[in-house]
Amino acid sequence: MRAFEKGISWEPPPVRRRFTAALAVLTCAFGASAFAQSSAPSAPPAPLMPITLAGDAARGSVIGQTCVGCHGIPGYYNAQPAYHVPKLGGQNADYVEVALQGYRRGTRGHETMHAQASSLSDQDIADVAAYFASFEGEAESARTRASQAKIEAGRAKSATCAACHGADGNSVTPDWPMLAGQHSSYIVRQLRAFKNGERTDVTMKPFADILSEQDMLDVAAYFESQKPTPKGADPSLVGLGQQIYRGGVPERGVAACIACHGPEGHGNPLASYPRISGQHAAYTTKQLNAYRLGDRRSDVEVNQMMRNVAGQLFEDEIRALASYAQGLN
Ligand code: HEC
Ligand code: HEC
Ligand code: HEC
Repeated sequence: MRAFEKGISWEPPPVRRRFTAALAVLTCAFGASAFAQSSAPSAPPAPLMPITLAGDAARGSVIGQTCVGCHGIPGYYNAQPAYHVPKLGGQNADYVEVALQGYRRGTRGHETMHAQASSLSDQDIADVAAYFASFEGEAESARTRASQAKIEAGRAKSATCAACHGADGNSVTPDWPMLAGQHSSYIVRQLRAFKNGERTDVTMKPFADILSEQDMLDVAAYFESQKPTPKGADPSLVGLGQQIYRGGVPERGVAACIACHGPEGHGNPLASYPRISGQHAAYTTKQLNAYRLGDRRSDVEVNQMMRNVAGQLFEDEIRALASYAQGLN
């Protein structure tokens, strides 16, 4: 007898189905009372159990290739535009095993997944579950095969940038900004700004000028996919920096940075508010001053937000904020 056949047609519903499941139970309860006299109750079904075979993650990685088209690169959310596909990377192996047995048997209804799971043996399920479980603890980000291709193209095209920004976007010189983990939407807007003069920098401009629109999208995707290395803050500046970062300066109408850049300085990719956490303090100081003096006008598309904020800051406040942001990660 195969392991999955020990179970009968009942399985724990995943969290998002609890409500529907509860409704179903209620409906069944009412239905059952109507038929109580005419049919004898059958034995309560036993749950599907995790498979007892040991999983081989290496073999699972081969089987798992067919799943990647919909579930995306393991460890990452798949951004299927048309429908929601659950993330499998890092998912508990027991849970995946029970879910796949449910699809295979048809007790968990979903045409596509039934078709997928039907071809899998118990050993296949154990292996594929071990494979996806092995991604536990990896950071999530929206990534698909298409975006992976863009990242690889960007990696090649970013060779010219590496001298200053670092091969993985972690620059070592404090005057050259970190690009690792920066939102691609923001990077692209800045590159356009160097090209069209809303941002002026003699060092950076020639490198922006040689990039086509597609190059910009590719290198931006590459740098966004890289992990920023954490840095520290100057302890003597943290107090003032944190106070303004979180509370702004109400008497001068300075908005709190946290409102747009977030509690950890991660910004907002959809609004293309940049990540400022872990950025070199020297670079951030220079930028806040550039906004303050009106030299940097790349915020023109966003109602001059940063010129309005920085225009009301004093030099010592800027230094404290820049150090505080460098310490965020
Ligand atoms: C054609 C697209 C597609 C392919 C290929 C595919 N899946 Fe799925 N999978 C889905 C969708 C859609 C769901 C959500 C179904 C639902 O709502 O029950 C899902 C759900 C699942 C779940 C349940 C996850 C949860 O959080 O409840 C597991 C486990 C799973 N798939 C594993 C696999 C494995 C392993 C493979 C490869 C052998 C695979 N899938 C291939 C589309 C796909
Ligand atoms: C010779 C050094 C150098 C090279 C090479 C270089 N950059 Fe830069 N880059 C800079 C400097 C300096 C700045 C900061 C300019 C400023 O102060 O406004 C910058 C700024 C940027 C910014 C804005 C960052 C932010 O946080 O706003 C982006 C994006 C960028 N560079 C992308 C690139 C890309 C992509 C390449 C390769 C095609 C590249 N750079 C090559 C020196 C360089
Ligand atoms: C209302 C939203 C908003 C608030 C509040 C705000 N920012 Fe920004 N910030 C932005 C946007 C949008 C940009 C990108 C503008 C551009 O394209 O030049 C930005 C850019 C920046 C940059 C440049 C990043 C880089 O890589 O070059 C720094 C540094 C910065 N902000 C720091 C701060 C600090 C410090 C505060 C608080 C005193 C603050 N911001 C408040 C929206 C905001």
